[in-house]
Amino acid sequence: MTGILQLLAVRKAFGGLLAADEVSLSVVAGTIHGLIGPNGAGKTTLFSLITGFYRADSGTVVFDGTNVTPMSTSARARLGLVRTFQSNLLFSEQSAIENVVSGGLGTRSRQAFDWLFERPSQRAAVMERAREILQSCGLGDKAEVPAGSLSHGQQRILGIAVALAAGPRLLLLDEPFTGMTAREKDALVEIVQSIRARGASIVLVEHDMRAVMRLCDRITVLNFGKVLAEGTPDQVRRHPDVMAAYLGTA
Ligand SMILES: Nc1ncnc2c1ncn2[C@@H]1O[C@H](COP(=O)(O)OP(=O)(O)O)[C@@H](O)[C@H]1O
Ligand SMILES: [Mg+2]
Repeated sequence: MTGILQLLAVRKAFGGLLAADEVSLSVVAGTIHGLIGPNGAGKTTLFSLITGFYRADSGTVVFDGTNVTPMSTSARARLGLVRTFQSNLLFSEQSAIENVVSGGLGTRSRQAFDWLFERPSQRAAVMERAREILQSCGLGDKAEVPAGSLSHGQQRILGIAVALAAGPRLLLLDEPFTGMTAREKDALVEIVQSIRARGASIVLVEHDMRAVMRLCDRITVLNFGKVLAEGTPDQVRRHPDVMAAYLGTA
């Protein structure tokens, strides 16, 4: 089993609050790894530590054999570490496909976008790839629609399409199912599975337990910044400490 991502005793404090308390975990390449836990457990903080939005106070983040702990967010993204956000950061006035194109540029600047469109040959290739990504996410017919006019669920999926444009080898999804209809959730389950089928590994932070249990190969449970349990969905579901944490009696 090859670990594409390894966290070794990663620690991050905000003042007196330990948001990541010596977290160690390993994500096996080609799997969907769930990261669950009550609100405030430190899940989003861990994503920020993995992608470099935050620097760990101590501990090590290893991605595909490279110690990325000292690296910037953009350097990590170039290696293929890409996240989505709990709240979407789309350009709502721009079309769906323009949003995906800017994801592929690895920048959110309008200037880079204009630069691209001064070069017609590149433009065609980039637009073609963006269109393929939208199609793979079931948004092929929404390419020209302003992002802000899409339904909430479609905007969530567009956020994933934007991340895919950056070419992730490990994609970190932060609560992608939030606020979706049952149909949109079914569609997203298939999209996530297809992302894995095309070779990416995935870490999924999610509260929707049905989606987590359907998708994940392994699950790590966080509580108060610490790893509370780790195992298969079945093992985690039966773990007494996990049930206690979710019932608020831990
Ligand atoms: N930038 C920050 N500054 C101070 N406290 C933070 C910051 N980010 C997160 N926290 C705190 O760290 C803890 C973990 O937060 P978070 O990682 O967002 O949890 P989760 O995603 O599991 O709900 C919470 O108590 C939160 O208030
Ligand atoms: Mg969070």
